[in-house]
Amino acid sequence: MGLQSLDICNFRNIETASLAFSPGLNLISGENAAGKTSLLEAIYCLGRVRSFRTHVSAQPIRDGQPAFRLVGRVVSCAGRQIPIGIQRQRNDLEVHLDGKPIRRLSDLAGSFPVQVMSGDTSTILNGGPRYRRQTLDWALFHVEQAYREVWQRYTRVLRQRNAALRAHMPQKQVTTWDTELLDAALQIDAFRRSYFEMLEPHLQSELQQLLVGKELALRYQPGWPAAVSLPEALVQSLEKDLAQGFTQCGPHRADFTLLVNGQGVVSHCSRGQQKVVIVSFMLAQVQLQQQRSVPMGAFLLDDLTSELDSRHQERVLSALHDLHSQVFVSAIEAEAVATAGWQDAKKFHVEHGVVQEVV
Ligand SMILES: Nc1ncnc2c1ncn2[C@@H]1O[C@H](COP(=O)(O)OP(=O)(O)O)[C@@H](O)[C@H]1O
Ligand SMILES: [Mg+2]
Repeated sequence: MGLQSLDICNFRNIETASLAFSPGLNLISGENAAGKTSLLEAIYCLGRVRSFRTHVSAQPIRDGQPAFRLVGRVVSCAGRQIPIGIQRQRNDLEVHLDGKPIRRLSDLAGSFPVQVMSGDTSTILNGGPRYRRQTLDWALFHVEQAYREVWQRYTRVLRQRNAALRAHMPQKQVTTWDTELLDAALQIDAFRRSYFEMLEPHLQSELQQLLVGKELALRYQPGWPAAVSLPEALVQSLEKDLAQGFTQCGPHRADFTLLVNGQGVVSHCSRGQQKVVIVSFMLAQVQLQQQRSVPMGAFLLDDLTSELDSRHQERVLSALHDLHSQVFVSAIEAEAVATAGWQDAKKFHVEHGVVQEVV
């Protein structure tokens, strides 16, 4: 399962909460502005150490307080309980995993994979390329053990090459990094390509059940022009790199697009259909994770009843049920959510930032 319990202190409008969750469905109800999204955001934060919200202040510390604190206990594949603690002050962040402080956020990856669908979030469709790269990297951190090490190595060498460029060092001092940069870059690229290859069939089958008659394609852009290899691209862009003070080409500029019937999803699909594409993408990732025996995290569906029509709600919930995923659903009315089939569901009600289990 995923998250067993969570203690919250001063996170948005939640002053304190101490919650024990179901390994299956957790249903969170409450009026508008009660704090439902805030609770999901706290859960998301445990997995990714950042917020998914883009329409409210990025800083989730409760107004007037110096810090927020989250302590969650996740259960590993082997059934061991692993605590994750996050304390955020305005200019300071401390993250503990299993009792030890972590130095890099990427070290947290793999401990609690979490996906969110919310009207209040960047998505693979409307977020920028940076958002899509993060989505892709985070997914790969979970499914490929070796990816994290090579990604960290690439990031470090790229930082050094860019520092040399910024400092207007002689060309030789810049290109001295290229061998190592290329080695890591090509491995990252290979991992990303194979990830998309593995993901695409899952995505196709999910989407076919949700959007009948639509053909989906994933188009990957590696971060340099398709007509040349990366070594060639690096040589070709060196002059520009020197002039602009940073490396123009490489996996740090990668992106991907989703096409439905050969056209862009945003221009070709209704808002409701776009939501379905996003959910399919997340479900496909979860399926792939499970196929690779990656510990299951949690799937967060914010304001489910207003985001998806009832047919799609049912389909998404039953797909998650089949995957034995832990699910957190928020809705104004708990009764509006189709909970049939979930034996061990738990219900929570939120009112003015106070979360209580409904028994
Ligand atoms: N940093 C903060 N400190 C205190 N309250 C906040 C903070 N950020 C947002 N809020 C408030 O928290 C309340 C709950 O918001 P939200 O979780 O979005 O509610 P819901 O999803 O239930 O509609 C809102 O009234 C919002 O203004
Ligand atoms: Mg909300």
